[in-house]
Amino acid sequence: MSESHIYPVPKALAANAHIDKERYEAMYQQSVEQPEAFWTVKAHEFLNWDKSFTKVREFDFNQGEAKWFEDGVLNVTTNCIDRHLADRADEPAIIWEGDNPYDSKTITYRNLHEHVCKLANALKARGVKKGDRVCIYMPMIVEAAYAMLACARIGAIHSVVFGGFSPDALKDRILDSDCQVLITADEGVRGGKAIPLKYNADRALEHCPNVHTCLVVKRTGGAIDWEDKRDIWYHVAVPAADEHCDPEPMAAEDPLFILYTSGSTGKPKGVMHTTGGYLLHAAMTHKYTFDYQPGEVYWCTADVGWVTGHSYIVYGPLANGAITLMFEGVPTYPDAGRFWDVVDKHRVNSFYTAPTAIRALMGAGDEFVKRSNRSSLRLLGTVGEPINPEAWEWYHRVVGEGRCPIVDTWWQTETGGHMLTPLPGATELKPGSATLPFFGVEPVLLDAEGKEMEGPGEGSLAIKSSWPGQIRSVYGDHQRCIDTYYSTYPGYYFTGDGARRDEDGYYWITGRVDDVLNVSGHRMGTAEIESALGLHSQVAEAAVVGYPHDIKGQGIYCYVTLMDGEAPSDELKKELVAMCNQEIGPIAKPDLIQWAPGLPKTRSGKIMRRILRKVAANELENLGDTSTLADPSVVDELIDNRLNK
Ligand code: WTA
Repeated sequence: MSESHIYPVPKALAANAHIDKERYEAMYQQSVEQPEAFWTVKAHEFLNWDKSFTKVREFDFNQGEAKWFEDGVLNVTTNCIDRHLADRADEPAIIWEGDNPYDSKTITYRNLHEHVCKLANALKARGVKKGDRVCIYMPMIVEAAYAMLACARIGAIHSVVFGGFSPDALKDRILDSDCQVLITADEGVRGGKAIPLKYNADRALEHCPNVHTCLVVKRTGGAIDWEDKRDIWYHVAVPAADEHCDPEPMAAEDPLFILYTSGSTGKPKGVMHTTGGYLLHAAMTHKYTFDYQPGEVYWCTADVGWVTGHSYIVYGPLANGAITLMFEGVPTYPDAGRFWDVVDKHRVNSFYTAPTAIRALMGAGDEFVKRSNRSSLRLLGTVGEPINPEAWEWYHRVVGEGRCPIVDTWWQTETGGHMLTPLPGATELKPGSATLPFFGVEPVLLDAEGKEMEGPGEGSLAIKSSWPGQIRSVYGDHQRCIDTYYSTYPGYYFTGDGARRDEDGYYWITGRVDDVLNVSGHRMGTAEIESALGLHSQVAEAAVVGYPHDIKGQGIYCYVTLMDGEAPSDELKKELVAMCNQEIGPIAKPDLIQWAPGLPKTRSGKIMRRILRKVAANELENLGDTSTLADPSVVDELIDNRLNK
């Protein structure tokens, strides 16, 4: 990287930032050398405890175990709501911006308290208690945040399922964690179109006999079916409930939520996070990464169905008493200027989005940005996938007018919060690099033998000691947690990502090294898509890989072998797309389907994905050794018929 590609910290920003370069270095050093002292102070600075802790952290990566502040007691909602009432009850907590540009509202901390307590009591009235699982399948409306917080109020464990998932995907998640209550809406609204959430929920619940209550928010008033014994209207049950609800005292290691995410094998895993460590990590990263200053309007465009929405729309900002903006719509409705119109409308100070959105908006042209003035913006952020330097530069130059630092935050559902990220007052930026570790995070690069590498180089990214927001388990299957994250490199948490470290110690994420795809920032297992395709009666076998896609980052490339005697057709392609839609949801829509009479397999029958990836990426120069294939001629056939030329 040449000097001209380094962006220094703006002086004015550094002068008033929570963390400048010297502080970062001193605090980072203390956080890894004296973690107990460091985290004891931070846990008290950021959180209110009903009962303080005596133990700070204990971990054993061989057992996939991590415990933080184990004997401490606290409630997440006391921290996210009640403690702010004394001095900011009438200040905004949530600014909600609807899909329709004329639709917005402000929820103060006092309002939030009342809504959450009432909903918590309504849940209690349906028998929900500490430890019970509640599924939340919602559009981006304030009730989604109320629902998460109401669960936390009474110690129930929420499992938010992204509203774009299909009935089948919803059903699998409800059953896996045995949720007995579902909170949903009649319909969602995105880009002017209705999303049939209650209809989907009804389909899912046909297979979920344990769900005794389905609480339904009326968002559009569209026609829906109703099951008298099970369904209750939110607007009937909740306003009638008592507005006083004592927070449930929770041990720091009591579960807070489950969030399903895709891995390289099998069905999605229920990543489990607990109370104290998670909240501390979310709050602390929110404050430092975004250099959040009191009174600022902060906007994260994620959906609450993903971890980014959990940590950086709801828990982190609210723990800090911040103003968090929640957006129901999409970046291109009514047109590609929507984000920047909203920035002006609500005077947004920090803006956090995904590279895929930046690339799509960059393609729409600068005029959509320039019609807004964006003078309120101080900071920009990205998350979810690697950002290419061109998109970074455009975001910096056009959206931020060269004035706003960009925080490129690398982390995962399993990490709970940011792991590698610049701090705006401390870190010089290099476009495309997630830069340096957050406090307490000890990243390492491992070579092919699993040995830690020193200095610059490229390897597998792993973490060598526990951090507060770390995954605690896979719900109902701790062994799977060990197998997935702690067995590849014993003694380390393995991220599944590859990375390069440069001469300044900066990290550059190179992408997944396993069979996980990242499509428009949505994580998906190739195995999940393969099994959806395999359900079609004419399909003998399918192999799915990612390939570089200008907007989505990665596209979904499917190789499909049909049963003997079946003929390929466009009709069949449509059926296969519909199959993925039905099993997973629209986010799993294949971009390219290649008919493959044979797949490259070793003599023992293992599909050589390396070759499939290269063909899909149209990188044919270096296919590697194909001599171990059972039938090397299939490769020529695949190359001749490749679709991404
Ligand atoms: C990828 C989203 C490069 C990475 C918070 C990771 C990134 C996966 C970045 C986790 C980034 C996330 N630069 N890659 N800044 N952020 N990723 O669980 O491959 O949905 O493993 O969490 O997204 O996706 P997840």
